[in-house]
Amino acid sequence: MTKEGMKIINVVGARPNFMKIAPIMRAMKAYRKIKPLLVHTGQHYDANMSGAFFKDLELPKPDIHLEVGSGTHAEQTARVMERFEKVLFKEKPNLVLVVGDVNSTLACSLAASKLHIKVAHVEAGLRSFDRRMPEEINRVLTDQMSDLLFTTCKDADRNLAKEGIAQDKVFLVGDVMIDTLLRSMETVDQRPKTKDRRPRDGEYAVVTLHRPSNVDDKDTFERISMALNKISKSIPIIFPVHPRTRGQIKRFGFEKYYNGQIKLLEPLGYLDFIKLYPKAKMVLTDSGGIQEETTVLDIPCLTIRENTERPITITQGTNILVGTDEEKIVKEAKKILRGERKRRKTIKYWDGRAAERIVRVLVEEADV
Ligand code: UD1
Repeated sequence: MTKEGMKIINVVGARPNFMKIAPIMRAMKAYRKIKPLLVHTGQHYDANMSGAFFKDLELPKPDIHLEVGSGTHAEQTARVMERFEKVLFKEKPNLVLVVGDVNSTLACSLAASKLHIKVAHVEAGLRSFDRRMPEEINRVLTDQMSDLLFTTCKDADRNLAKEGIAQDKVFLVGDVMIDTLLRSMETVDQRPKTKDRRPRDGEYAVVTLHRPSNVDDKDTFERISMALNKISKSIPIIFPVHPRTRGQIKRFGFEKYYNGQIKLLEPLGYLDFIKLYPKAKMVLTDSGGIQEETTVLDIPCLTIRENTERPITITQGTNILVGTDEEKIVKEAKKILRGERKRRKTIKYWDGRAAERIVRVLVEEADV
């Protein structure tokens, strides 16, 4: 580290980024030499997809907001790159730190690496091996451009080695999302009760769905919707609905499946969500992060996808891949209702201290 210290731009863009950056920025505070800046690309912009998370996670207000909004993949990525490059010219950071696998992650690492600014990628090396997922392209390319790669588990280290990434750039540090989860779980019970009536603890299921592969294809979304409808005859379902999914339910006329014992909610803030789902009998989801969180919380998780970039949650955790076949989803849900369920094992470094490890490595290794 130079005498002047180390200017680091931390990037957030979409909902799953906020809980990953929060503990890292907190850990950076312990080092006077680090000058952190927070850039929000504005990929997500609704109050309940973005604003609420800053408050819940005690994230500082972004120093710079790029306000890119929605668009096609190329439009959104290009807009972030153009605007972020201007920030890089002006701020001249020593390092750009990106997390996860959203379009903002790729766009900012590409802009930085072309200007020979070091890139650190948190949550590197996860692979679904499914290139039809935009996130998979974002992961592979971001890792290729990164100078420091922080991984959550050994599988990720192996994936990076196979892609020819030098091992001395890779650091197994654990999972920053779990840092946030464990910290927030300590206080969540003190939060006021929600106004709406909820079933009793352990007597409901929680659903989240937003992957384009699940909700943009009518047949697939219909199979999933019919499965959820059937499951709801045995246990009430609470479903905070992502804006994309809300639009598709309307477009396909699927409101008929979301009646009776299925309660649709607006997307929840972070703390409201973690007040809700740790008390669920099971979670059905296509999210990446929730697969990890349910494993740590030891709640049964049915992942409505054909593959996962987080296989450790299957081998060591509570996760089961159920795909998008109606019968298979219902069958696995019924097993859980009968009490046939998986239990988790402890996963190395998913202990609430990943961010501290990351920042220590940044200070020791980033040769700036
Ligand atoms: C993005 C990420 C995905 C992540 C998800 C979490 C990519 C490629 N995908 O997907 O990995 O799991 O965020 O939510 O980066 N919209 C709103 N308000 C918002 C944001 C989005 O209404 O604040 C609507 C818009 O109609 C938009 C659509 O949701 O077109 C999709 O948003 P987008 O950011 O493109 O991708 P996500 O599906 O949210």
